[in-house]
Amino acid sequence: MCKMQKCLAAALALAVIFFGFVIIRVGIAKPSTKFELAKIPEEQKLHASAYKDAYPLQYNSFMKNNEMTPSPTGYGGSLAHVSYLEEQPEMLENFKGYKFAVQYDVARGHTYTGEDFVTTLRLPPQKGSCITCKGSYMYDVYFKQSGWEYASKPIAEIMAPMGAEDWFGCPTCHDPETMQLRVYQQGFVEAMARRGVDVNNAPHNDMRGYVCSQCHNEYYFMAEDGRVNHPWDNGFDPEDEFQFYQSGQAGAFKGDWTHPDSGAMMLKAQHPEFENWVTSVHHDAGVTCVDCHMPYMRENGQKYTSHWMTNPLKSTEQSCLKCHDESTETLIARVKTINDNTFKLQRIAGQTCAQAHLTIQAAAAAGATAEQLAEARLLIREAQWYWDWLAAENSYGFHNTDKLMKSGALAIDRAHRAIESARMVAPNVTLAPMPVYVEAEHWNAAQHPGVEPPTAEQSAM
Ligand code: HEC
Ligand code: HEC
Ligand code: HEC
Ligand code: HEC
Repeated sequence: MCKMQKCLAAALALAVIFFGFVIIRVGIAKPSTKFELAKIPEEQKLHASAYKDAYPLQYNSFMKNNEMTPSPTGYGGSLAHVSYLEEQPEMLENFKGYKFAVQYDVARGHTYTGEDFVTTLRLPPQKGSCITCKGSYMYDVYFKQSGWEYASKPIAEIMAPMGAEDWFGCPTCHDPETMQLRVYQQGFVEAMARRGVDVNNAPHNDMRGYVCSQCHNEYYFMAEDGRVNHPWDNGFDPEDEFQFYQSGQAGAFKGDWTHPDSGAMMLKAQHPEFENWVTSVHHDAGVTCVDCHMPYMRENGQKYTSHWMTNPLKSTEQSCLKCHDESTETLIARVKTINDNTFKLQRIAGQTCAQAHLTIQAAAAAGATAEQLAEARLLIREAQWYWDWLAAENSYGFHNTDKLMKSGALAIDRAHRAIESARMVAPNVTLAPMPVYVEAEHWNAAQHPGVEPPTAEQSAM
């Protein structure tokens, strides 16, 4: 071979090694797991324990959801009754007059879904719609019988026949006949159909996102019949969803409650994990909820999907390092930096909203009329929507950092405009004091064993 040919051959060899490596990496990211389909007795289909012998690896890892461990970043974590209201007392003002000011705890493992639902202080007056995202009972028993009828019935009646094992079981994500992933939450199916997506015929990789997204999203109950619906017709940004509620696209549903201080009709945002993931860099790179939260594991040479759906930084090696070259420490530190910055913005936004409620209240007390305060009330409704959209999302900024930061920025802007608007119509009213301390340390029970959380007064100092 001449010199030129040698160079070409070397270049070709290098290219083969390089692309081979890329293919291997992609291959590592998507291995297939093998399992033998078992027949589960009909009357036990909803109960996780009935799957134990047939699928021990999946069952045992699912039971790890009982484990209560903090998150490596100190944010979130699977802990019993760590209260957001104690951690961020501005929520007491922002959710005043609504059940979220009574009890609002950090989420924990899926195996606690039934227990936490049955015992929450938010529950008593609710309707059947609430069990829609607490397992597949609502579908396999109620929906198959009579469609959405369960949604408008009193929750006590709906829960009465349910046993402890009827909540979050294997059919919550799997078709019990085939063990294939399934999306059956009809509100999600219908809202996605309006966007032109047929989730029941979606590619397999999309299903690995939709199966979680059918619950982890923003929703509302339709005023007519309690059906679950989602505000996605205009897009997945917080502005798109706000526009949906403002423009009458939600029908007779106008809001969740009227705030007793500001008098504004408010919206409660709910955990928009789906909306943030589906527009994130990771989604665009083909990475789904399952890749991070349910990584592949090995036991005795057998490859299986981890069913411990928890904070992925507890398994950084399996969840992240198959794609990322950084060390575990670097990656966790990077996520914590995102969390620290996002949390600070979230606190400032939440406290500015609280200040706006109080300033509007003072303006009304000083004689401003409902007509004069209409603009300020609309602005605090919008401000709090953006703040809550950030605060209710469970990743403290990680899933979609720029979008969640934007939501916080919009919240601060609209809250200041609400304050300005209220003071324009009641010029003698002074700015209500910022109710809570901005620098309040992020409080996490696991990091302060045996120490009581700060009271609202302490945090305000
Ligand atoms: C929150 C959703 C969810 C729940 C609940 C759930 N699974 Fe899975 N399961 C998945 C996902 C996602 C996969 C990956 C499937 C894929 O990519 O096709 C999976 C895969 C599997 C597989 C295929 C083999 C493997 O390991 O990839 C089996 C078997 C299985 N699950 C059994 C169970 C059993 C048994 C339970 C109840 C103890 C259960 N699953 C509960 C989401 C869930
Ligand atoms: C049927 C609705 C539903 C589905 C489907 C669902 N979740 Fe959840 N998820 C919940 C609820 C409800 C909780 C809170 C449980 C509690 O705090 O008692 C939760 C909690 C969590 C948590 C917090 C756990 C912790 O340790 O702090 C994570 C992470 C999570 N889900 C991820 C997922 C992923 C990933 C999927 C898809 C594979 C998924 N979820 C599917 C309803 C659902
Ligand atoms: C690229 C990886 C990745 C993807 C994709 C992803 N997540 Fe996460 N998720 C994380 C990380 C990392 C955290 C924890 C951040 C932290 O510690 O503050 C997290 C946190 C969470 C939490 C809170 C857990 C806790 O400790 O309280 C929930 C719930 C959750 N994710 C659900 C989802 C759902 C649902 C999807 C898909 C719609 C999804 N995630 C997609 C990486 C991911
Ligand atoms: C299947 C591959 C894959 C997995 C798994 C994965 N990532 Fe990524 N990650 C990517 C890609 C691709 C990008 C975009 C990189 C780029 O644009 O340079 C990215 C970007 C990021 C970024 C920068 C985000 C931004 O907004 O630009 C962070 C931080 C990150 N990943 C952390 C994580 C963590 C933590 C985990 C595990 C919980 C994880 N990733 C899992 C592929 C992955």
